[in-house]
Amino acid sequence: MAVNLLGRSFLTLLDFTPEEITYLLDLADDLKRLKRAGIKPRNLEGKSIALIFEKSSTRTRCSFVVAAVDEGAHPEYLGKGDIQLGKKETVKDTARVLGRIFDGIEFRGFEHSTVEDLAKYASVPVWNGLTDKFHPTQLLADLMTIREHFGKLKGISFAYAGDGRNNMANSIMVACAKMGMDCRIVAPESLQPEADLVKTCNKIAEETGGNITITSNVKEGVKGAQVLYTDVWASMGEEDKMQERINLLKDYQVNMEMVKATGVKDLIFLHCLPAFHNYDTELSAKVGPMEVTDEVFESDFSKVFDEAENRLHTIKAVMVATLGTK
Ligand code: CP
Ligand code: NVA
Repeated sequence: MAVNLLGRSFLTLLDFTPEEITYLLDLADDLKRLKRAGIKPRNLEGKSIALIFEKSSTRTRCSFVVAAVDEGAHPEYLGKGDIQLGKKETVKDTARVLGRIFDGIEFRGFEHSTVEDLAKYASVPVWNGLTDKFHPTQLLADLMTIREHFGKLKGISFAYAGDGRNNMANSIMVACAKMGMDCRIVAPESLQPEADLVKTCNKIAEETGGNITITSNVKEGVKGAQVLYTDVWASMGEEDKMQERINLLKDYQVNMEMVKATGVKDLIFLHCLPAFHNYDTELSAKVGPMEVTDEVFESDFSKVFDEAENRLHTIKAVMVATLGTK
């Protein structure tokens, strides 16, 4: 049956079949080609899109804005301090108001239940631009980048080293399970994913031929990995945990020793960004490289900027597929 995602919200990849995910990736490839050729198909002509951001963003915000404008839509940025949400107005009321005014709503914030409630009450597609639990648009860009590099997803070995309980680790497990990949979450025991989600992902992986391994053993976890991935050690909202995380995760840094331990010659390094890889930002000046060394970040096998560009094409694909007019 032909895939049709019109009218659907995009909250987590758990809600999408492997065929639907592949459809979004194929569409993103097409949209990337068209953009490179200078063609703007304007699939969202006349639409208006609300972009709610409770947390900061560079890639996600810019991708939604540029994708909307490329396709002929009007994006409206609604920052934390700009709207009544959470202060004078409930999520349910805000959802019903914005749903009358806008054709689609992006939400980035803390509670995953907020994006779920927006989707429940807005009557228009709602897209998750990151919550504490999941970051599904990031995973589409990651899968797109892996496919560009290896030509496939099924069977690819993917090792994520770092905070195994955060939105990225959760989303990576789901995406790998859905696409039949060999996923390793390499994290100390106190930072390993919740058992319920691991169970769900294992069930999915049984059907797709994928595999999920959770381990605190770095050498075993990364052996044979074709994709090495990491994320910040303290996510947005957890800044006070920084020192505790440095202590817990210092042996999980992606460095050349870890790269060598994979034993894989043509591996790629990915990171959702922003990354602590040098001393060059206000924050990293105090702590230095954390989750990845500058050597790995700046290496030829680091594909982090292809990955960052692919945020634009995949976010555009999500909006076009769920809201497009053509
Ligand atoms: N990767 C990512 O979501 O980046 P931003 O926080 O800059 O949007
Ligand atoms: N885990 C990170 C991802 C940033 C894109 C965070 O939530 O801050």
